[in-house]
Amino acid sequence: MIMIAVTINGKKSEVERGTTILKAAAALNIKIPTLCNHELLEPYGACRLCLVEIVEGDRSTVTTSCNYPITKPLVVETESKTAVKARRMVLEMLLARCNTSPELDRLAAKHGLSGSRFELRYDDCILCGLCERVCREVVGANAITFAQRGAERVVVPPFGGEAEQCIGCGACVYVCPTGAIQIQEDGDQKIIDRWSRVLELKYCKACGVEVAPAFQCDYFQKKADLPEDFFDLCRDCRVASR
Ligand code: SF4
Ligand code: FES
Repeated sequence: MIMIAVTINGKKSEVERGTTILKAAAALNIKIPTLCNHELLEPYGACRLCLVEIVEGDRSTVTTSCNYPITKPLVVETESKTAVKARRMVLEMLLARCNTSPELDRLAAKHGLSGSRFELRYDDCILCGLCERVCREVVGANAITFAQRGAERVVVPPFGGEAEQCIGCGACVYVCPTGAIQIQEDGDQKIIDRWSRVLELKYCKACGVEVAPAFQCDYFQKKADLPEDFFDLCRDCRVASR
């Protein structure tokens, strides 16, 4: 294992070669704000909120810390004037895109911002990609994808219309930092409006409680090679029937 010296906000440590600045900072109890990063997912570098300053002699550069692997000794500042100014600018741009997110409001307040000087877009999505990545990398459903470029970029079901591979697990709802994705139940259906997805619910054959969307039961039954009738019963009835 090759270890590299890193100094962050004056705190010195050694990290394994390839460790990201974000992880090295966390190990030193230094928190860098993030919006598109999740420990279970590959770094993506979409939100740019995790900007830090790398100082080399009398020169410095500003870079995203979540996807910057440490491969040589570094001196990093996370709270320097330059780093904070860069993050404030990113936050202003994110706030201009989406001004309905409590998480963004919280970060803005922490950075002394009460609004954005840029033109408001009134979108509810900041294109962080967490929903697309959790669906693809963790759940393995690949139900949604990025489409279009530039200002038109969106996360949508692959061919528009309904996200036919969506199993209604709610992972995207859970990771979305802006609350742009909602999951609702209506009678016997689970509905995710954002992905135009409507799923029929399955109920326990013994006691009648809700088990999960039928499509989700089929997905996990096949994926885990479970008996075909595995999800006919809820967990409690399955345990009681043994
Ligand atoms: S819907 Fe939410 S999780 Fe998905 S890209 Fe937009 S902000 Fe990120
Ligand atoms: S957390 Fe690093 S770019 Fe979003």
